[in-house]
Amino acid sequence: MNKIEHIGIAVKDLEKSNEIFSSIFGEKHYKIEAVESEGVKTSFFKIGNNKIELLEATNKDSPIAKFLEKKGEGVHHIAFAVDDILIEVKRLKKEGFTILNEIPKKGADNKLVVFLHPKTTNGVLIELCQEIASF
Ligand code: CO
Repeated sequence: MNKIEHIGIAVKDLEKSNEIFSSIFGEKHYKIEAVESEGVKTSFFKIGNNKIELLEATNKDSPIAKFLEKKGEGVHHIAFAVDDILIEVKRLKKEGFTILNEIPKKGADNKLVVFLHPKTTNGVLIELCQEIASF
């Protein structure tokens, strides 16, 4: 597993939150991207070598809508960059972790992603992501 690729934050109102985080970082988001399959709209900020992803639900069945309902706004997941997502899935499965989607799906920002179930990771939703270009 390589570096932290980004940290995902669940927000109720993307537009409002873009303003808040722009003020914090002193810089605007560099992209907005909807991921239809996940029912989310995201925006990305770059702070040095780090990225922050804000996630807003686009429908009530979205995982983000459910998260907001249960926990409210805040840190939603930590994403780690991996070189080979399929090898990592295999390794972590063998270690006994529950993978939410064993077949990587296309996430935001040109990545293939899988998520580890928080029940096996001390409550932390972990995303693994691999650049699609290198897949
Ligand atoms: Co993410």
